[in-house]
Amino acid sequence: MDPETVALRRWLVVLALGVAAFSQPAAAERPAVDVERGQKLYAGRCAVCHGADGDGRGPVAASMDPPPRDFTKGQFRVRSTRPGDPPSDDDLFQTLSRGLAGTPMPAWAGLSEADRWALVDVVKSFSPRFAGPKPVVLAIPDPPDLSASAVLRGRAAFRRFGCADCHGEGGRGDGPSARGLTDASGRPLRPYDMTTARPKRGNAPEDVFVAVQSGIEGTPMPGYAAVLNATDTWDLVAFVRSLGSSPAVAAAPVSSAASYAAAARDVGTAN
Ligand code: HEC
Ligand code: HEC
Repeated sequence: MDPETVALRRWLVVLALGVAAFSQPAAAERPAVDVERGQKLYAGRCAVCHGADGDGRGPVAASMDPPPRDFTKGQFRVRSTRPGDPPSDDDLFQTLSRGLAGTPMPAWAGLSEADRWALVDVVKSFSPRFAGPKPVVLAIPDPPDLSASAVLRGRAAFRRFGCADCHGEGGRGDGPSARGLTDASGRPLRPYDMTTARPKRGNAPEDVFVAVQSGIEGTPMPGYAAVLNATDTWDLVAFVRSLGSSPAVAAAPVSSAASYAAAARDVGTAN
């Protein structure tokens, strides 16, 4: 067997033992972490995709779409912090616990909380960005009534604030500026179709609120914290969530062993 197949097989065993998808735990108290344990877990569960050095070049990464994050760049999609600030520890913990919807990044809720916190520190260790001042977490005011009138206002705001330029008026990812967008490494990137898929970080109103306010690092989507007040943002949340309200979207797994198995098959056939 070539090394890639060996890595893949070993990985599938790990996956069968370790991953429980779908659960969305609340923010946890941060315990003291066991550094060695974190490194061992990283080597066993994460390096196959993210690379032993955190550079996103693990043995099965080559044909993965989207590719595993390169942690050395220090850019993260899921943040609840001011635009420009790195993610909080809690953001990384939530990402590990929930996975990223619609991508090969699995949910790691099957690992104990202590293990997940240890992994948060390993992820941070790959980038000097985390050595700076503590990030400022954005406030999320209580959601107002996200009723039909909020959806209507949100539809207008989606146009007015330029969201539709990229996302398209109906949120299908087909706006006039969508073509030619790239991620931070120059790889082509399109906004996802909001009528068939759900946001990577989750579809709770608070998740969508904070994604819009904070922005999606590593992509052309800016953070709107300085531009949008809470009312406009909640209207946009109501509109975006109304697009993805079909039962199919609601039932889509956040990220699961199955999504990884499909990705792994692709890698297998690509080689
Ligand atoms: C099957 C491959 C795979 C495995 C295994 C995997 N990841 Fe990922 N991970 C990904 C992919 C792909 C992305 C990027 C998804 C995207 O661009 O939206 C990602 C993204 C991430 C991110 C970035 C989130 C953000 O906000 O941008 C973190 C943090 C992360 N993974 C941590 C881990 C840790 C820790 C482990 C091990 C416990 C792990 N991953 C295991 C594929 C994997
Ligand atoms: C310059 C183009 C651009 C503009 C303008 C833009 N977006 Fe985005 N947006 C994107 C891209 C690209 C992604 C997908 C990022 C990825 O692949 O992870 C995205 C992702 C999102 C997500 C999903 C977040 C997640 O968790 O996956 C939401 C919600 C969203 N945008 C809402 C908005 C709203 C509301 C506005 C206007 C206030 C807006 N966007 C403006 C390009 C844009």
